[in-house]
Formats: sequence, C-alpha cells, structure tokens
Amino acid sequence: MKKRILTGDRPSGRLHLGHFVGSLANRVKLQDEYEQYVLIADVQALTDNFAHPQIVADSVKELVLDYVAVGLDPTKTTFVVQSKIPAIAELTVFYLNLVSLNRVLRNPTVKAEIEQKGFGDSVPAGFAMYPVSQAADITAFAADLVPVGDDQLPMIEQTREIVRKFNSLYGDVLKEPKALVGEYPRLVGLDGKAKMSKSLGNCIFLADSEEEVKKKVMSMYTDPNRIRPTDAGTVEGNPVFIYHDAFNPNKDEVEDLKRRYRKGEVGDVEVKQKLAIAINVLLEPMRLRRQTLEASPEKIEAILAEGVKKGRLVSEEVLEQVKTAMKINYKF
Ligand code: TRP
Repeated sequence: MKKRILTGDRPSGRLHLGHFVGSLANRVKLQDEYEQYVLIADVQALTDNFAHPQIVADSVKELVLDYVAVGLDPTKTTFVVQSKIPAIAELTVFYLNLVSLNRVLRNPTVKAEIEQKGFGDSVPAGFAMYPVSQAADITAFAADLVPVGDDQLPMIEQTREIVRKFNSLYGDVLKEPKALVGEYPRLVGLDGKAKMSKSLGNCIFLADSEEEVKKKVMSMYTDPNRIRPTDAGTVEGNPVFIYHDAFNPNKDEVEDLKRRYRKGEVGDVEVKQKLAIAINVLLEPMRLRRQTLEASPEKIEAILAEGVKKGRLVSEEVLEQVKTAMKINYKF
C-alpha cells in the first residue's frame, strides 16, 4: 500500500512562483508515489484573517484552480477543506489538554510569526494554538509523512510530541508522522528581497497573464552597480539570473547570457526578455488548465465535495478510535 502524505496551505490569496518552487512542483511529483492529501486550511487561515473572512472564502476556490493548474490531479490528490472536517476541530480540543501553554508559545515557527505580524501581547489564543490544530490535521488523516521545509519542522516535532503523549495515556491509537524533508528552495522576490511574498508585493502569480509577466520581469531588480550594458555585471545573487536558473530549461542560453553579462556584452533588456519568455512557457499550460476548470464551476464544486467526502470518512474513523480510547465514546 502507498504511504499517505499530507500537506496544507492557508487560503489567503493566490499562489505565486515562490509557492511553485517551494512546494507545488514537489507535490506534483509526490502524487504519483504516495496517497496524497492537500488540506485547504481555511480554519487556520482565519486565525490571522478572522477580520477578513471574505479573503479566506474567495481563496478556497482560487487554491483549487491553482492546484489543478500546476498539475495536481484530483484523481490522485485529495483536496480537503479543513472547516468541512469537524473531526479536526474535535481532536484539537482534546489535544489542547496534552500540551502546555508554554510549550506552544515556545514553538519557533509560531514565535517567529507572532513577531513578524506584530501581535505583541494581543496575539489571539486561536493563533497561538494553531500548532495543536495542525497536529489534529495531520493525525486526523493518519498521515505517515508530512513534506515540509525547514520552517515547518517544529510543527511536526510538536505533533509527534502530542501523539506520543496521547498514545502513552490512552493506548496506541494515533500514528506518529515523520517529516519528509526535501528540497524546498526559497525564491527571492522581484525586488531582490529574500522572499517572494504577497505582502511584500514582489510576486509573479501563477494566474498572471503573459503581459503581466512581461511587465513584472522588465521591472525586476538586477545588479545595482551596473549602469550601462557595457559594464561588467555580477551574476551571483542577481535575481534575474536566479530566476533564469530556476525557470529557463535552456541551460546553454542561460550560460551564454551569464558569460556575456559578466563581460558587459549583454543588456538587461535581452536578459529579461528571455526570462519572460521562459516563465511564460512554464505558465502557459497552467493558464490553459485553469481556464478550462474555471469555465465549469460545477467541476470545482465536485472536486471539493469529493475531497470532503473522502476526508470525512478517514477522519471520522480516527476520531472514533480516539474517543473510544478516551472512554468518551458513549453509546447513547
Ligand atoms: N501551517 C501551514 C502553512 O502555513 C499550513 C498547514 C495547515 C499545514 N495544516 C497543515 C501544513 C498540515 C502541513 C500539514 O503553510
């Protein structure tokens, strides 16, 4: 039997090339090897978007469009909307007894996020506790493996601790998941900042049109010390070349551009035009798949309904076992 893997995203906007490089491309590969679940974590998204529920609601369908666009196949990958799985909420409540307040607040991922979002002392309790809810996500589907980047490793550690605590108290019920640490490279932003991110406004979205991609690429940050095309330029750390390495499959062309750039024999315009072409070649089939699905909203609904149905079946079974082990599976 195939091992089960689970990943998740918070629906809070469209996906961009940073997501593609960081996790989506990997998921497309993993769906052939594993039984893959992708959780659309709308409840988690509400922990920091509780004042903007419309953004979350709109993003659920956007996510499905993005997923199918990149090549995730609903017959191989199950998309599950978190709020439609009551077992996750129930498990979260039980697990909250198995972890100390201090331990949750020490979770490095959450700590960093609290700081980054400037919550200070008014961090919502729901946000601070989301690692516990994430433990419920993972265990509700009895996932064997969770593909993660470095930043999410503390989440898996926390989940494993909760599972061990549960099993030692109530019996061997929950599956202890392992992290599947792969290569999850981080993509620099169009502006050269460390990370492509919606809040920094430095993204190319998977749903961007050909024209938008061209415009964004032409405005990209390059070597700030290079004034004229005849100046010798620096390739290393230059976002335009980082993108060429990531998205241009024509390695000879990339090497030629680098060589000429270093010698001051090529202008930014040519380098960028070729990059825009490469990115558009990558995105074009995604646009087509997206358009096809967008044209039949009933298919999107069907994909979501099917995922929820399957997700409920699996998670209800785990919840039953959990309640039995906790002696609260009353028969009335
Ligand atoms: N915390 C993850 C993120 O912010 C999303 C997520 C929710 C998740 N539940 C999950 C990831 C379960 C892996 C497993 O991207």
